[in-house]
Amino acid sequence: MGVMAVLMLPLLLLGVSGLLFIYQEVSRLWSKSAVQNKVVVITDAISGLGKECARLFHAGGARLVLCAKNWERLENLYDTLVNVADPSKTFTPKLILLDLSDISCVQDVAKDVLDCYGCVDILINNASVKLKAPAHKISLELDTKIMDANYFGPITLTKALLPNMISRRTGQIVLVNNIQGKFGIPFRTAYAASKHAALGFFDCLRAEVEEYDVVVSTVSPTFIRSYPGQGNWEPSIWKYFFRKLTYGVHPVEVAEEVMRTVRRKKQEVFMANPIPKAALYIRTFLPEFFFAVVACGVKEQLHVPEES
Ligand SMILES: NC(=O)c1ccc[n+]([C@@H]2O[C@H](COP(=O)([O-])OP(=O)(O)OC[C@H]3O[C@@H](n4cnc5c(N)ncnc54)[C@H](OP(=O)(O)O)[C@@H]3O)[C@@H](O)[C@H]2O)c1
Repeated sequence: MGVMAVLMLPLLLLGVSGLLFIYQEVSRLWSKSAVQNKVVVITDAISGLGKECARLFHAGGARLVLCAKNWERLENLYDTLVNVADPSKTFTPKLILLDLSDISCVQDVAKDVLDCYGCVDILINNASVKLKAPAHKISLELDTKIMDANYFGPITLTKALLPNMISRRTGQIVLVNNIQGKFGIPFRTAYAASKHAALGFFDCLRAEVEEYDVVVSTVSPTFIRSYPGQGNWEPSIWKYFFRKLTYGVHPVEVAEEVMRTVRRKKQEVFMANPIPKAALYIRTFLPEFFFAVVACGVKEQLHVPEES
């Protein structure tokens, strides 16, 4: 009895680890089969999240179309992908220069992809421009630029690829959005407006295309730690548990969530800590309280550092 009691805990741990391992392997294989041979377009494949999505989908055997504004960085990404992956199990990615605020360029890109592959299975609308500044200091030209890149660009690309998905009765469109598409915070007027607009568009579209078996998914993180040097990842247990709260989610985690979203055909994902999640509920059910709290925060920030 005594020996059994001593062995119980290690055996239990071993059993749980085994089950976890099997679950992870099955998930990995399932993810792979969900994207294998699929034509996947990723906009702004060179940013923190875009790059991680490219890596994950490439390893999963997708036929990738990597779009971005910078050719040199696209070529660097291409080299990294083809050097690390097994060429017998992956496809060579196609690179495309794409500035989402140039609407005619967006339409040409869609035509180019369809001419090349004949279809698009998954479109990941990831590109966007950030801006932090008081509204009265942002010119209308800049407001327009943000709307072009964050709203008109993604919807133009989506509309150009949608007829093909509808006629094939299959396809998935993923919008990488931000929790600021659900509620606004000060000094982000143009950004939050563009994210609200994009979310509104894709929420409407979801219902419209469901009967054609086209899936629309939105993934909204709060804060992504995009740059390698951003945040100080110290190896402390305390920081490990609170790092998401302090430093934001790592792009790898968001990319894995995008992959899960594709695999499970999820409709809406919020990657938020309890505080922003609670804020979302407060904004919905107690708007006056929410506005008062946000306004208090503004009064404390008399001098806001501008960021673009
Ligand atoms: N970072 C966060 O904390 C955060 C939080 C929640 C949601 N998100 C969302 O996650 C997605 C990816 O964010 P990220 O942080 O990985 O990217 P990021 O670091 O914010 O970089 C933005 C990227 O978009 C590109 N871009 C800007 N304007 C463009 C245009 N007109 N056409 C094509 N590309 C353009 C930029 O290229 P250039 O550098 O050449 O201008 C840059 O590579 C975005 O949709 C963002 O809104 C981010």
